[in-house]
Amino acid sequence: MTEPKQWVKPDPEKEDVFWPTEELKETAWVSDESIYEEALENPEEFWAEQAEEGIDWYEKWDEVYTEEPYNYEWFVGGKLNLAYNAVDRHVENGKGDENAIVWEPEPTDEDTVRITYSELKDEVSKFANVLESLGVEKGDRVGIYMPMIPEALIAMLATARVGAAHSVVFSAFSPESLKDRLDDANAKVLVTADGYYRRGKPLNLKKNANKGLRGSPVENVVTVKRTGADVEMEEGRDHWYHELMEGASTEHEPAVMDSSDLAFILYTSGTTGKPKGVMHHVGGYAVQAYLTAKWNFNLHEGDIFWCTADVGWITGHTYINYGPLMNGVTTVVYEGAPDYPEYDRLWEIIEDEGVTQFYTAPTAIRMFIKQGEEWLEKHDLSSLQILGTVGEPINKDAWMWYFEHIGGGRCPIVDTWWQTETGANVINALPGVGPFIPVYAGKPFPGINADLLDTEGNPVGVDEGGYLTLKSPFPPSLIRGVYKRPEKFKEEYWSEYGPRYYFTSDGARIDEDGNIRITGRLDDVMNVAGHRLATGEVENAIGKHELVAESAVVSRPDDVKGEVPIAFVMLERGAEVDSETLKKELIGLVDDTIGPTARPADIIIADEVPKTRSGKIMRRILKSLVKGENPGDLTTLRNPEAVERLQEKIQ
Ligand code: WT7
Repeated sequence: MTEPKQWVKPDPEKEDVFWPTEELKETAWVSDESIYEEALENPEEFWAEQAEEGIDWYEKWDEVYTEEPYNYEWFVGGKLNLAYNAVDRHVENGKGDENAIVWEPEPTDEDTVRITYSELKDEVSKFANVLESLGVEKGDRVGIYMPMIPEALIAMLATARVGAAHSVVFSAFSPESLKDRLDDANAKVLVTADGYYRRGKPLNLKKNANKGLRGSPVENVVTVKRTGADVEMEEGRDHWYHELMEGASTEHEPAVMDSSDLAFILYTSGTTGKPKGVMHHVGGYAVQAYLTAKWNFNLHEGDIFWCTADVGWITGHTYINYGPLMNGVTTVVYEGAPDYPEYDRLWEIIEDEGVTQFYTAPTAIRMFIKQGEEWLEKHDLSSLQILGTVGEPINKDAWMWYFEHIGGGRCPIVDTWWQTETGANVINALPGVGPFIPVYAGKPFPGINADLLDTEGNPVGVDEGGYLTLKSPFPPSLIRGVYKRPEKFKEEYWSEYGPRYYFTSDGARIDEDGNIRITGRLDDVMNVAGHRLATGEVENAIGKHELVAESAVVSRPDDVKGEVPIAFVMLERGAEVDSETLKKELIGLVDDTIGPTARPADIIIADEVPKTRSGKIMRRILKSLVKGENPGDLTTLRNPEAVERLQEKIQ
């Protein structure tokens, strides 16, 4: 065996700072830090050049960028199709026999499935014809409620191909969450599956889909047969995927889309209990998804890229589906749990498939740290070149463990900060440039302008904490609106600093070299095992219980999940309950309303929570209580005595 390559070297002077080796610099798309200054001197020119080089356009744009308050657009007048860029062009360029998707089913006795770009082109074209035969037209919305199977990607690409917008709903979301999203988007068709495997057991997804479909605007449902589970099919509405695909033609002309057409909607948690439909437009999204995937992970022909997210999240949209496929590499899709059948499942896949870039979340890394290194020792991970992390701030221990044990001390860790709203990565260290520093995400991607501001809107100095904002001209893949709620769009992102600064809701610090460290959310949004969740969503679910008068949910730091929700529950006057039964009922309500990922780790039944004189719940105080910290100044409270009583309950 040849010695695995060394892609990083330590800084000669600073501890725990790493730089790309010459070898990495040679293969990297970018290896000179002058790119940052150059790109920022003229971001429009930078992005236009990248867009021209990286994406195939049917027609070039008339204007690179336009901006008026709350309305900005890249590549105005440009015409393209996302699916064509992700699939067809590689076939036309002679790469049809290369693998586009490698699918690893969870059951170990099932074979890995490999889909070449030619095959993918046929499948996507066929399904595009199927969607059209079901009445889907350019501009419509298609719901996708699917497990991690290749058909999930095929459904997304086919939707893009016909010019409709997909709204993917995470498969572990409850029927009610599905229904809300289908209603809000007014989806015409839903694509789902009978089920999937999770920790060795088949789960029936169609059952949940059917519940969510009750009373929804969906006219046609297409179900992929994955597990063979018994499912109820409604005459006239329900169709089997394989039956519709059988007769479908592989000939399909992709829809010619405008840059400013809607590519997709993805619902995410905001500050209230109601998730918002984040809108992304075709042109800007294509360019930033393509370029960030290419530069951050140094993607080259033949690479086997694996992002462990779910297609239900933005990470899955951009770095399982569109990003790697637009770059013509192989994307790995794994169906199941990372610890099934044992804790080395991921390492086994890396070894078997020769994965070259691996992208995961800190919560997964922390789970593996707990299991010990023996799970790694059996596996050869020397194919890895670049590691990525995303979703939440990574602590130094997790970073170092990832670096040493997964990367063998050879691979850079690219810590990528971004959001559902930014569509693609925004802050990171480029692999050929570095430096890679634990807990620092790095610099704004070339051509992106970020500022740390104080509450007055003034830039903060080195190591002073500030609010992370993105400055005009905005990143090409930045959110274009909240579906059907323009006032919400304005309020959530632009009310803080006006229309020239997009407000991220994250706090951050900057070091003297311009590297940014993300410190976390400043609003009532939690990050539970990398899943975004508003405290208000959990409160709404709990509030459905007839005996609950009021509730307050806050997050508590957790070793593995990053944060977990803790619920404080106040009962109706005179309510008599068995607290264990009540807790079970509340968990059931959370499962039904949102999904099991939102389950509170603890439910505290209280007679009162601290409130301001105007009656607002002081979540800051509840947060310090669950952390076991001193709650601080209580003089502004209407009921300071409530704090002491809660303290006794928590201990
Ligand atoms: C929030 C966005 C980006 C796709 C997955 C999450 C946090 C994201 C990082 C990172 C520190 C991070 C932020 C952000 N976050 N990446 N590398 N370091 N924090 O997307 O569900 O929209 O959540 O995740 O707080 O605002 P999302």
